[in-house]
Amino acid sequence: MNNGFIKIEQSPPLKGQVELIGAKNAVLVIITSLLLTNGKSKLKNVPCSVDVLHMIKLLSQLGAEIVFDKERHILEVDTTGVNKWEVPSAIMKKMRASVLVMGPLLARFGRAHIALPGGCVLGSRPIDYHVKNFAKMGVTIQMDGDFLFAKTTKLISQRLVFEYPSVGATENILMAAVLARGTTKIINVALEPEVLDLIAVLQKMGAKITIQPPASLEIEGVEDLFPIEHEIIMDRLETGSLLLATAVTGGTINVPQAPAYSLDVLLLKLEEMEHTIEIGPEGSGITLNATQSPRAVSFKTGPYPNFPTDLQAPMMVLQSLASGTSVIEETVFENRLLHVHELQKMGAQIKVEHNKAIVTGVEKLYGANVTATDIRASCALVLAGLVADGTTIMSGIQHWRRGYDALEQKLASLGARIQLFDSEELPVDVAEAKHREKHLNV
Ligand code: EPZ
Repeated sequence: MNNGFIKIEQSPPLKGQVELIGAKNAVLVIITSLLLTNGKSKLKNVPCSVDVLHMIKLLSQLGAEIVFDKERHILEVDTTGVNKWEVPSAIMKKMRASVLVMGPLLARFGRAHIALPGGCVLGSRPIDYHVKNFAKMGVTIQMDGDFLFAKTTKLISQRLVFEYPSVGATENILMAAVLARGTTKIINVALEPEVLDLIAVLQKMGAKITIQPPASLEIEGVEDLFPIEHEIIMDRLETGSLLLATAVTGGTINVPQAPAYSLDVLLLKLEEMEHTIEIGPEGSGITLNATQSPRAVSFKTGPYPNFPTDLQAPMMVLQSLASGTSVIEETVFENRLLHVHELQKMGAQIKVEHNKAIVTGVEKLYGANVTATDIRASCALVLAGLVADGTTIMSGIQHWRRGYDALEQKLASLGARIQLFDSEELPVDVAEAKHREKHLNV
């Protein structure tokens, strides 16, 4: 599916109301957590994105029986027949989240054979925090090239300290600790909304988990965990993408299901740009009325509740067209500024210094042929295409499809001029543009 592309044309201000779907970064880990139980669980509000389809395939290959009703977004998973602990490397390489089967497999079988995970090119993305802490829990880990063999006769409950609040490491270690005899304490954990949704699911299964200050988890191991029904939380990153698409086109949007409470710093920054934000009762629902003369604002990404790294790229597009200069500092990943080069092709004035991007607002951007380098970069390039003069063709749409469930259709329903093409059949004008680019090297 890598030869598809998205065609985006300059669009009118987005206007309207839109529904959300469940959070990708919650549902992926929650699907792996079902390995901790025996029986049939039901998940609702499940997005139909490529990463979810890959995670379904991964669990099926371990022996789970899975039915996904894509229309109703309901996933039924029966883990009774799960009898394998080895994950084929082909499926492991599809996404970073595959590493999250390690904790549940160790808890269920005392064994896990996985290939090192794939995923975005956001830097080396090691799993040393996972490995170091599993070792402290009595897991023997052997690396053999691209493969990792983990084994334990008994998971040992420990007091563990994370040097960094890693989302994946928190989730992986937590899913092993819930079935480890005794009390495990983890200091300096990630408490992103998606991690909290996993904790809610584990507690429904019968796990004993308490959240304590400062950013710590205390887990009382239990003998067994049981199948559950759960509705996945709404996706704060899809929400952010829709708000930013509306802001950059100068429009108005109402997102009734928006988890406003989980986007405070984004909303703060949008208000500093002079966009108007209204939040519904109990922090559910957001209405944004965009200003026609946005002011540039600086921001720095960080672990929740800081500005989310997954909204850094699309927010950079807003700064590229705002008046003034802004400094964007990416502190979570060491290589998450690859979208700058693509935005520069469209006329953005951005200078990169280590993990900082200095953005000087310009009057306009210009349509170009661009390539998405990760899920959130694909969102940024779509947003840039909505406001750029002319036509933008974005390749690398496997990233878009991995991270979103038909987000292009939601944008189109708000007035965006956007089309996803799954194959190489280019519409004539696009073929000419590509031909020109190839031969004139423009
Ligand atoms: C999760 O990735 C998300 N993915 C990411 O979303 C998100 O950007 C990230 O958390 C931060 O919020 C899923 O939930 C599937 P980390 P994860 O472990 O768990 C370093 C998206 O676009 N690190 O918190 O991989 C790591 O290299 C994706 O939806 C180590 O050094 O993130 C990074 O610099 C992108 N050693 C930092 O920590 C480790 O063992 C944060 O990583 C683990 C991580």
